[in-house]
Amino acid sequence: MMELPPLWKRFPRIHSTNDSIHEAAREGAPEGTTHLADRQTRGRGRQDRPWWDSPGSSVLFSTLLRPRIEVERTLGLSLVAGKAARQALARHLRRPLQLYWPNDLYLDARRKVGGILCEMRQEGAQYWIALGIGINLDFRGADIPSELRGQVACLGEMGYPVDSGTVTTARRVLEAFWPLYERFQAGESLASLVDQDLAHVGQRVTVHDGHRPAFAGVVSGLGTQGELLVRDDRGVEHAILAGDVIYE
Ligand code: BTN
Repeated sequence: MMELPPLWKRFPRIHSTNDSIHEAAREGAPEGTTHLADRQTRGRGRQDRPWWDSPGSSVLFSTLLRPRIEVERTLGLSLVAGKAARQALARHLRRPLQLYWPNDLYLDARRKVGGILCEMRQEGAQYWIALGIGINLDFRGADIPSELRGQVACLGEMGYPVDSGTVTTARRVLEAFWPLYERFQAGESLASLVDQDLAHVGQRVTVHDGHRPAFAGVVSGLGTQGELLVRDDRGVEHAILAGDVIYE
């Protein structure tokens, strides 16, 4: 088995690498501690949705962040990680990976290739983030659940050399992430870091954020805290912090 970078641990089977990273953080683990799993039994996504994996061929990992920035800006870290994934994998792909707000990687606007779950925990004056990333690597031989068929895609279909394996793929993403994270912490705005990478800027969407009736509008970019800015048909700009955005 491939040698792991310092601060990395690999688990053949675990409930969720985000959970194990939170445990490690409570015990004082340093930033950069990374847990990679071959299989998760309770992998989760945003809004506590289950995260399905194809055992041994999904890239499943979480990294501990101890950011020096104000908590309000940390929402943007999912997008910074999304940009890192796009940037790291682009040169190995024949087709572009699309970054959807707030945390998704897509192929062909329809099928999800990966997702990012950024979870914050606070203890006393301290806070940390478990940055969890799941990327579908290779579906050959995978038993895709019927409800996901036609909705998911893997890097292998996009020309990615799947024999790179899960460790190297995760490593590529993290190597691209750290410099972007430093720029973000140094104060660079999300708009300057990520706007160019975000699919849908200038496109029409429908927003369901739970605070008001669903409405349609055009994406104008990102706000300072990572919120999606959507201009409705009356010209009013709304900052969307959470919820679902349906892309047309
Ligand atoms: C989403 O699309 O909603 C985010 C999915 C995040 C999945 C990853 S897999 C590694 C880490 N551990 C988890 O339980 N979730 C994240």
